[in-house]
Amino acid sequence: MLDQVLQHIDRQRETAVEGLKQLLAIESISAQPDHTDDCRRCAGFLGKNLEQLGLSVQIHETGGHPIITARNQHQKDRPTVLLYGHYDVQPAQPLEQWTTPPFQPVIRNDANGFPSIFARGASDDKGPIWAHVQAIAAWQKQAGQLPVNLIVLFEGEEEIGSKNLENFIHSHRQWLQADVALISDTAQFARNLPAIVYGLRGLVYLEVFLTGASHDLHSGLFGGAVPNPANVLCQMLASLHDENGRVTVAGFYDDVVELSAQERALWGRLPVDEARFFQEIGLAAGYGEAGFTSVEQRWARPTLDINGLTAGYQGAGAKTVIASVASAKFSCRLVPNQDPEKIERSVKQHLMNLCPPMMKIEFASHGASPGILVPHDSQAVKLASQAIEIGFGHQAVLMREGGSIPVVGLIQQELGIDTLLVGFGLPDDRIHSPNEKLDLGSFYNGIRTAAALYERLSHLNKRK
Ligand code: BES
Ligand code: ZN
Repeated sequence: MLDQVLQHIDRQRETAVEGLKQLLAIESISAQPDHTDDCRRCAGFLGKNLEQLGLSVQIHETGGHPIITARNQHQKDRPTVLLYGHYDVQPAQPLEQWTTPPFQPVIRNDANGFPSIFARGASDDKGPIWAHVQAIAAWQKQAGQLPVNLIVLFEGEEEIGSKNLENFIHSHRQWLQADVALISDTAQFARNLPAIVYGLRGLVYLEVFLTGASHDLHSGLFGGAVPNPANVLCQMLASLHDENGRVTVAGFYDDVVELSAQERALWGRLPVDEARFFQEIGLAAGYGEAGFTSVEQRWARPTLDINGLTAGYQGAGAKTVIASVASAKFSCRLVPNQDPEKIERSVKQHLMNLCPPMMKIEFASHGASPGILVPHDSQAVKLASQAIEIGFGHQAVLMREGGSIPVVGLIQQELGIDTLLVGFGLPDDRIHSPNEKLDLGSFYNGIRTAAALYERLSHLNKRK
């Protein structure tokens, strides 16, 4: 039956791309309040499509952007797969750096000559979720039904930390029970090297506001006698790293599990071209914590990075002013076993200790999620490897990744289920960046892999 499903998928390529274009045209930017309605529309679009496939769909209000669930008719003796994805996308700014507008998807060759679809969300994560929708459609049309019990869970707040998802999962934990969770929101290791990801970093995102005088001051009349929030903020932020690229916050590395010699050796054998990696992003060399390869730095070491910095006059020309407020957005990537709350407290304490007494320091928290590891020798992983070989025609590599997907921790903690991370993107997709794209070959292979995953996972032993 899988053969017929795969043939159907190969015949339906154009329809699949047409549908993806419609999905990509919806400006579902979760972070920007003017796009609240677009997020809702996007949820509606996906809900309608899942309903047309005969699934029973519900759109759930969350207080933020809606969550969509969909289920087929469950049968007692079959394993259940919980499919997660996110329909929200990152802001498209800076707009002037896009070759074509972010929400007008177009197909053209990428820098290496591979046909690709360019739009915000093409790779992260609309292309991959649409690949699953197409695979589900192919099973329904060719076989009349999927070979597994399926629960679809699509949310609209992943890119802003999945704040409302925890409540939802907690209050629906019986209803969401499954034998395995499946997520396509990661990348392949490289072209023709599809991957199963078994580790992700976590994230703590903070914003700090530093206030000096009650209003902006002439820097000649006042400068020298008053604290300048911009100067002080720079000193504070500069104190967060030492000369070896290590984070100086007390206790920051306390719970970090050192990499095993075995894992280092395995990663050392991956076909990594460091020079090329940096060259592709316009850098002559790498930078970072001493004593680790770039792969180790990205997959298994915690970091602290400033993500936005604001102080003083930002317009054209000069303005001699000491602004009364300076602020920074910054985040820590965490590795498994670090406690996000503990790290958040320690980082805040570090900065508060450096705040001069006549100034005010305040924080806003923008989410915290832990680093995760999932088993990489389970039956589910073996079945997924087989599905990837069917879908891509290449063997999967096992790898970790540096990005974060908060739901993986929630699924582990609230549902007690392991997650399979099987992604269809490529490392050069420019996710979160201008000119995001999805390689069309990867999209088609992703649909095939998704279809094969449902077949292979139908052989999964049920839990308990
Ligand atoms: N899909 C990414 C995460 C990702 C990408 C993991 C590539 C591994 C490989 C996801 O949409 C993402 O960007 N997550 C955010 C989460 C954050 C806002 C809590 C991230 O990592 O910044
Ligand atoms: Zn993302």
